[in-house]
Formats: sequence, structure tokens, C-alpha cells
Amino acid sequence: MNTSKLFRSLVALTLIPLVLTAPGVSFADDVATSESLTTLFRASRKVISVNQALINDEAKGDKGLDGKSVVAMAKANYKEAAGKPLSAGKAQKAMLDSVSEIMSEAQELINQEGVGFKGFLPAIFARRVAGRFSQKMQGSMSIKLTAPKKYVRNRANRPDKWEYDVIENKFKSEGYENGKPFYEVSKSKGKDAFRYILPEYYGESCLGCHGTPKGELDITGGKKEGGVLGELGGAISLAIFK
Ligand code: HEC
Repeated sequence: MNTSKLFRSLVALTLIPLVLTAPGVSFADDVATSESLTTLFRASRKVISVNQALINDEAKGDKGLDGKSVVAMAKANYKEAAGKPLSAGKAQKAMLDSVSEIMSEAQELINQEGVGFKGFLPAIFARRVAGRFSQKMQGSMSIKLTAPKKYVRNRANRPDKWEYDVIENKFKSEGYENGKPFYEVSKSKGKDAFRYILPEYYGESCLGCHGTPKGELDITGGKKEGGVLGELGGAISLAIFK
């Protein structure tokens, strides 16, 4: 083997690991998976928001919101939001199964007659779905609804350090594009992970509970956060473990 051939082989050998671990490929896949899952998470939660008045209707028994119908509505909302039907991989299926299970478990509560407000809210549904999904994914992925630290109501939803940093230093920074997700390869719970976080803002419908005056009790008996229209009020955070 002459020197230039040897040199070329050495270069080729050195390049192999670079090609095999090329960050571009799996990074793009992780971004696409995250977009799909956060869109599906929101599409599912939206079924609960648009049906809140029905859920709170004390005159009606069966609300028709069983697992199957909520999954069907979530898929329709997904299609509308994403502009294409959901292509269901393992994680998407785990999320839809979680939605279905959480709704099945809530039937007795939401179908009660003679009770108006039942405390079955989008954020509570979202927390339960997130917990079930993360459980089903057995440590390979987890999702969570969190919020800026000063606005967190349920301590279980507190941002971790990475989420806190992105919320305070990116989402709240001047000129940060509204609604733009932030993602990078980082750590979650001490493990290597692709992390993705999507900001959400208070709309008019949120302020009855999260608005002003700060400290006043809302319908749930919790204290209002003092949030204002259009303000950053939450974030959906997803981790894909490596
Ligand atoms: C009927 C009252 C009510 C309304 C309306 C409401 N929320 Fe909440 N929200 C709550 C309660 C109660 C919790 C705590 C849920 C839990 O236990 O996980 C919560 C939790 C949250 C969380 C999770 C972080 C935390 O604080 O624990 C976010 C984010 C959030 N709400 C955003 C919103 C947004 C955005 C809207 C409007 C689209 C909205 N909420 C409408 C009552 C409400």
C-alpha cells in the first residue's frame, strides 16, 4: 500500500464514526416526532376545552365523551391543526391509548347528574394523559405540561432546570417569536435526551382562573395567578431519551 492509499484509508476509517453518528438524521426525526406528539397532545386537550360546558352540565347524564369518541375527535383536531392526518407510530399510539384510558376512568365523574362543576379541566386531563403516556413509553419518552415558575399551580407541574432556563431566558426574551418551540440535545433526569418545549399563552378563556385580581379564588377554589391576555402561561415539554 503506498502512502497516499494508506492516507485515504485512514481518512475513510476516521469518517465512518462521523457518518454513523451524523446528528442531522436523528435530530430531524426527533424534531418531527416532537411536532407530531405535541400537536396530538394539544388536539386531545382541545376536545376537553370545547366540551367544557357539556362536561359541567348538571342536567345531562351521559356526555358521550367516552374513550373512543374523544380519540376520534382528537384525531380530527390533529388533522385540522397539522393539515394532514395523523400517521400513528408507536408513540402516537401510546398517546391515543392514554387519552382513551383517562376518559374511560373519568366516565363516572363526568356523567354525574345534578353536579355542575366537576373539576374535570383541560389541564387536569393533560396532566393525567402525560403521566400515562410517559408510563407507557417506559423511560424512552416523557411529556409534561408545565408553566413559568411563578404561575405554577400544581407543584407536580413545576419546570425543571432546563425548562425553567428556556422559559425565562428564551421564551420571555424580547423579540422571541410567538409560539416558536425551542429544542436541543441536552439532559433530562440526568440522562441524555433530545428536549423540545413549546410555549403557550393565556387566552380570554383562561383568565377566569389564571387572570386577575391575583390571589382571588376561582371556580376550582384555587388562587388566580394574575396573568394577563396574551402572556406566556405554560409550555408543553417533551423528552426523547437516548
Ligand atoms: C376552570 C379554571 C381554569 C381554566 C379556565 C384554565 N385553567 Fe389552567 N389550570 C387550572 C387548574 C386547577 C390547574 C392545575 C391542574 C393540575 O392539577 O394539574 C391548571 C393548570 C394549568 C397549567 C399547568 C401548570 C400549572 O399551573 O400547574 C397550565 C399551563 C394552564 N393551566 C394553562 C391554562 C391555559 C393556557 C388556559 C386557557 C386556555 C387555562 N389554563 C384555563 C384551572 C384552569
